[in-house]
Amino acid sequence: MAILKIARMGHPVLHRIADNVDDPTDPGITLLINDMIDTLQDAAGIGLAAPQVHVSKRVVIFFVPESRSGEDEQDSETELTIMINPVIEPLSEETNLDWEACLSVPDLMGSVERYSHIKYSWTTPAGNREERLASGFHARAVQHECDHLDGLLYPMRMNDLSLMGYAEETNRNIKLLRRGHGLEEDFEAELQVAEEG
Ligand code: NI
Repeated sequence: MAILKIARMGHPVLHRIADNVDDPTDPGITLLINDMIDTLQDAAGIGLAAPQVHVSKRVVIFFVPESRSGEDEQDSETELTIMINPVIEPLSEETNLDWEACLSVPDLMGSVERYSHIKYSWTTPAGNREERLASGFHARAVQHECDHLDGLLYPMRMNDLSLMGYAEETNRNIKLLRRGHGLEEDFEAELQVAEEG
């Protein structure tokens, strides 16, 4: 059990395509997962991908806290989920814009377009394949984390870099930013932006 160092934007490990895990029960993978859980808890994040701790393998952990769940059944609180070799399938072309933060891009936040409804599947540490439907923040968290496995950080997904800023400053001005950019008035504001992973 150990708290691992988190790679920040600029480190090449964050921009590689991570390798598939051939044997999810390999003791090295078990150790990696345990250390990732410790690291995520220490950083008070929501999700973490192995490349963020300098290991270029397709392993992601994440959860959705109750405070970030929505009304949709598939946008619910989600227990800590350990995913090996995850695969995402968008269920429609529908997308939405909302704020994200990342442990590898500290102190900043940005508004990113993501698929609203997805199906995702993964291998568990025991070697079983599972799948879930997700929408809203749950779907966003999965897309953000799995992007790390393909060498993508959320700023690389942004269409409008004026919607990126220091979290401290952005949170203070978030309503103004929304109006200024013509976003819908009833666009649900999540003022509390936790570090996401
Ligand atoms: Ni991240």
